[in-house]
Amino acid sequence: MPTLGSSFVYAPPQVERTNQGWHMDSLGFDCVIMVSDPDETNGGGFQYFQGTLQEVARICGVAEHEIRTSVGKLGNLPADRIHTMTYQRAGYGAFMQGNMVLHRGEPLRRPAPRSVFVPGFIALDLDYPDVTNWREVRKWNSPSVTNEYLRHRAWRARSFLDDAIATQPFDQPAETYRRSLEAALQEIELALTELGGRRGASAA
Ligand SMILES: [Fe+2]
Repeated sequence: MPTLGSSFVYAPPQVERTNQGWHMDSLGFDCVIMVSDPDETNGGGFQYFQGTLQEVARICGVAEHEIRTSVGKLGNLPADRIHTMTYQRAGYGAFMQGNMVLHRGEPLRRPAPRSVFVPGFIALDLDYPDVTNWREVRKWNSPSVTNEYLRHRAWRARSFLDDAIATQPFDQPAETYRRSLEAALQEIELALTELGGRRGASAA
């Protein structure tokens, strides 16, 4: 199972380690679905801060671009702005714009077998910025993230080309192809840069 595309998150057995820390997600959209029985957990809801990215930066004293790489370092949030959503039963969840909502899994008050399933999503509209935070993700201890990164770049490159083929009219200047072609090329360049030395090795 890929890490960003979808993942299972298990609560550690030590209750003091179940505070995952306030954070923004490293991708645009995700759905947090409770898999285990919430009646068996004490705590373990879903908490979010009702406020903007700019407010979080101001309250926590960090730059906006640092928020998504400051997992575990954000705190001292005003209690009346924190909301706790409790899951009614297994199978219930929340869909969110994860890179814009400061949130965390509510820490457990006693050990419980809490697990959540988190499928991730990106915008299909290529005009929407690619907000995936690869600078953060590539540090994760997961064997699949590099392959996910390369697949993501390949998908975006193909999508830019598909878009050009589907929408560029024949009676317009050929120059109208430039934006799509350059965008596709940039995606491929980013992917090959990630492969680094292996690109040179295969070329030799
Ligand atoms: Fe999250």
